[in-house]
Amino acid sequence: MEFGKEIRSEFPIFSSVGNQNLAYLDNAATTQKPKKVIDALVDFYSTSNANIGRGIYKLSMEAHQQYEDSRTTVAEFLNAKSANEIVFTKGTTEAINFIAVSYLEPNLEQGDEVLVTGMEHHSNLLPWQRACERTGAKLVVVESDEHGEVSLERMEESINSKTKFLAISHISNVLGVMNPVKEIIRKAHIHKIPVLVDGAQSVAHCKVDVQDLGADFYCLSGHKMYGPTGIGVLYINQAFQEGMLPFLVGGGVANGVEYQRITKYLPTPFCFEAGTPNLAGAVGLASAIEFLQEADMADLHKHELKLYNEMLAILEGQDNAIVYGNPANISSIVSFNIKDIHPYDIGNLLNSHNIAVRTGVHCAIPFVDSMNLLGTVRASFGLYNDLDEVHRLGDVLKQAKPGDWTRNRPNVRYLE
Ligand SMILES: Cc1ncc(COP(=O)(O)O)c(C=O)c1O
Repeated sequence: MEFGKEIRSEFPIFSSVGNQNLAYLDNAATTQKPKKVIDALVDFYSTSNANIGRGIYKLSMEAHQQYEDSRTTVAEFLNAKSANEIVFTKGTTEAINFIAVSYLEPNLEQGDEVLVTGMEHHSNLLPWQRACERTGAKLVVVESDEHGEVSLERMEESINSKTKFLAISHISNVLGVMNPVKEIIRKAHIHKIPVLVDGAQSVAHCKVDVQDLGADFYCLSGHKMYGPTGIGVLYINQAFQEGMLPFLVGGGVANGVEYQRITKYLPTPFCFEAGTPNLAGAVGLASAIEFLQEADMADLHKHELKLYNEMLAILEGQDNAIVYGNPANISSIVSFNIKDIHPYDIGNLLNSHNIAVRTGVHCAIPFVDSMNLLGTVRASFGLYNDLDEVHRLGDVLKQAKPGDWTRNRPNVRYLE
């Protein structure tokens, strides 16, 4: 697969009115969708739509089959042992909340500890914070070092006999640094501590093998890997499924129901998907996986690293630019500031040149606070970006001057 400009033709948004010249560098927020994925959604609704599980007619059975085939595609993509380990969710946020409520809260007691890193997205922080509040457990935060990284040693030092759970992002959405999750999981398992990995930022950039990582729970969002919004995945290692209560209950989770008897739930994953699932979303996600599999992940990594290195060289050559994170451990996100200019003014300036980046605190306020920053400008790459776009970004940054935010609200944040 040819990355960059070549592949952009497969993404209809880049030929739509007003977007032909768009440099879309906000892929960590969401990716654009290839025609293949859009077609899969349209095809599903045009030819296969029916509710699943309970229909005994042909269309329902076909829709059911497509949904279950999508589960198998996800299982193979993540190298799960079985498709039964794959639960479809709305996205990473819902998957993490699921585990916090259904697995962790019932297993936490006053005085227990839950370990997270200091770089987590609010979606991998607030569910654990709330589980601790509800149970009297303590949230322990392992802070990053001056390069924005969390070392294996720091994680290990924070583990003790009270530690009952560990949650960590695979790749940080703020700085793009990759955590040594495989090694951290190994250490945690020595102490019998289950580990959840937030894979929202990794699946579109590196090969993920849940068995090789040893993850107990792995979460991802379809929309960050060229798939549809509203569909995500919670991988639950078989060993943790026994006895775990559903996050939601309702249609599709039980066979026999009586008023005064506790309901017996169906086996996983069905008991964890109450209500009508996002059928087209699952089919679209499978299509996005097929699209990604046509790309060699090692080549894609090289492509994104090339863009990252070029962007880094441009910023390092600009006196007033400050880049965050350890460049040796980043490939698809550049987080930076231009001295004395508010990140929103940089975002507005870039927008006026049809360049889309994210500015602000990236749903990670404690992490940005720990760096003593108002926010950062974040450019994040995907397979359709190219060096021309990086150069365009660099050229605009050279013209950057203080704007309204810097002048009128220099110390004010805007959005989460
Ligand atoms: C690291 C990380 N975790 C979790 C999330 C939440 O993902 P979603 O909004 O798709 O549930 C994001 C989204 O930006 C993220 O970057």
